[in-house]
Amino acid sequence: MTDMQQLEQWDRENFFHPSTHLSDFSHGKAPERILETAEGVYVTDRQGNRLLDGFAGLYCVNVGYGRKQVSDAIAAQADRLAYYHAYVGHGTEASITLSKMVLERMPSNMSKVYFGLSGSDANETNIKLIWYYNNVLERPEKKKIVSRWRGYHGSGLMTGSLTGLGVFHNKFDLPLAQIIHTDAPYYFHRENSDQSEEEFSAQCATSLEQLILAEGPETVAAFIGEPFLGTGGIVPPPRGYWDAIQKVLKKYDVLLVVDEVVTGFGRLGSMTGSDHYGLKPDLITLAKGMTSAYAPLSGSVISDTFWSVLEEGTAKLGPIGHGWTYSAHPICAAAGIANLELVDEMNLIANAGEVGAYLNSSMKQALGDHPHVGDVRGEGLLCGIEFVEDKGSRRLYDPVGKIGPQIAAALLKRNVIGRAMPHGDILGLAPPLCLTREEADVIVTAMKAAVDEVYA
Ligand SMILES: Cc1ncc(COP(=O)(O)O)c(C=O)c1O
Repeated sequence: MTDMQQLEQWDRENFFHPSTHLSDFSHGKAPERILETAEGVYVTDRQGNRLLDGFAGLYCVNVGYGRKQVSDAIAAQADRLAYYHAYVGHGTEASITLSKMVLERMPSNMSKVYFGLSGSDANETNIKLIWYYNNVLERPEKKKIVSRWRGYHGSGLMTGSLTGLGVFHNKFDLPLAQIIHTDAPYYFHRENSDQSEEEFSAQCATSLEQLILAEGPETVAAFIGEPFLGTGGIVPPPRGYWDAIQKVLKKYDVLLVVDEVVTGFGRLGSMTGSDHYGLKPDLITLAKGMTSAYAPLSGSVISDTFWSVLEEGTAKLGPIGHGWTYSAHPICAAAGIANLELVDEMNLIANAGEVGAYLNSSMKQALGDHPHVGDVRGEGLLCGIEFVEDKGSRRLYDPVGKIGPQIAAALLKRNVIGRAMPHGDILGLAPPLCLTREEADVIVTAMKAAVDEVYA
């Protein structure tokens, strides 16, 4: 085995890491961590530290690590048929079977799934299809997409534009002109302390309506949102939010894209966030939980009415000009089948609801009264802890973004991985859906000790 020093040198000399401080990393000023093995909810690094992965990688390893059922399915598929493309009607048993399994798990008005490789490319596909759809319907001017500040939808040119976080735009010449942003559904950050959740939701809906009217409804094609904000801060929708938003969308004939990359396949304790919050999507974006990240795979899921327009388009124009070499890759599809079977067999969706409620209430109990904990919030196996300078007035730290990483570092010292969310002083937790109550206790105890250390 390559020795540790050699590996570290190669890492710093050759490897361009995503979302990393590049100069600090290459000059040895930012830490590196090399992971080696994993089992259940634990990962082990090269120094032998066994860490409870409280963020399931990037909220994706839903079934937990080391599931032989999934790795065996991948190996068997690689042996039998490692690859064939899906263009011009080609398929494999794995890709066709998985398409059926995915549709069975989506809202009943959904008709087809297009398989890609990442959440970003699935959102890219969805927006491209929306433009095609409006061209087929001879509404060439209806192309703008409304996203939300704090939303996260990927980091490509289109998807980075949809993402409502400045770090994904600055110096990249984004967002693209067709993308506009509306208010984040961030009740904790409301200006008026006396406002109820319902009033805040109504305000978000009014603000969306004003934006659509100002742009011209004939130019606004779609609205994209995560059912529960993830990377933008682990933020639940305030009461009444989705009903109010959907009314506005319906009124102006604006399509709804529900980004279920994090929420799909169980994280909230329901099959989808759409089920959980009563959303009626025209398109859905899937990734992470479809294979629990054992192989890269995404899905763009399309409603029956949307599909009929796509069919009409190809009847007029010929085959659709969209596809990736690795669309519906059979190895990834085999991983998806085994993973979804395992989610059912292990009853992980119910477990996410049950252990998630326990984790969230234990965390509230442990930290809710802390003078610098402004908010403990969550749903299913998502939990966010927001730190503030002043609890009473909900005053944020200035400069923002220094406490989150300190808490994450103190947590890591206690062998638990949490994630300092990229915007704000928020510690995020999104463990594998197989988490037990005992493991939830380990997370909460470590969090309490980490907070005490940072504020000592
Ligand atoms: C809601 C949401 N959409 C899209 C993406 C992008 O997925 P990927 O990183 O696979 O491109 C993410 C990634 O975290 C996400 O959380």
